Amino acid sequence: MKTEIYAHRGSSLLAPENTMAAFQLAFQQGAQGIETDVQLTKDNIPVLIHDERVNRTTNGKGYVKDYTFQQLKQLDAGAWFNTEFAGATVPSLEEFLKWFGGKPLTLNIELKNNKIDYKNMESIVYDLLYSYDLLDRTILSTFNPNSVERLRKISQHLNCALLRSRRKKQLITYAKELGANAIHIKYRLLSNSLVQQCKRQGLQVRVYTVNHPRQIKRCLDLEVNGVITDVPNIALSHL
Ligand code: G3P
Ligand code: CA
Repeated sequence: MKTEIYAHRGSSLLAPENTMAAFQLAFQQGAQGIETDVQLTKDNIPVLIHDERVNRTTNGKGYVKDYTFQQLKQLDAGAWFNTEFAGATVPSLEEFLKWFGGKPLTLNIELKNNKIDYKNMESIVYDLLYSYDLLDRTILSTFNPNSVERLRKISQHLNCALLRSRRKKQLITYAKELGANAIHIKYRLLSNSLVQQCKRQGLQVRVYTVNHPRQIKRCLDLEVNGVITDVPNIALSHL
């Protein structure tokens, strides 16, 4: 089985995370997939930014949910990383999908709704993916178990993953009962027995955030479905 390499927030070691520059670089490097994070603005526009607040990755302050999309677009999302990227902005999901559509890539959208449970986030994102005809090559993931259930209610055909950073007894049964068809686990949760059980039970496994060559190699040896990494170029060199 061939493991897919996903660029985590784009190629985020070499370019500012979740910017078009980071996504373009991931594509140029040959990543097979892109992972990105979605939050909602005050006017319910899905935007690609990891944190609930803009402070760390832009020159602004405060919560994404308190900015209109137009206000958010005024912020610089590149200069904090390197002045070479000054002028980069927070992309909307739609802007990203327009770029993504023609490329032979898989998409992993993480709904960032575990701290703020944004109203209707699942259907807003679903409708956009539907209108761009991208549902077949998109995986929606979330740490929020209620959101997994809501996604499954929207469609029986969605690729839907439960994210976990901490151990949980009966994780596979739990994920399947919620309606997930994959688990996305932090590297420290990875074990041969978990991968084998997932395979037997028809659940896909992807692992984050795997940057060290030894860890990348272990994921490939275990034949997980996906490796989510800040350094897709390094991961690809091990395939
Ligand atoms: O989707 C995997 C990983 O991105 C989840 O954690 O904090 O990097 O969004 P985080
Ligand atoms: Ca993420």
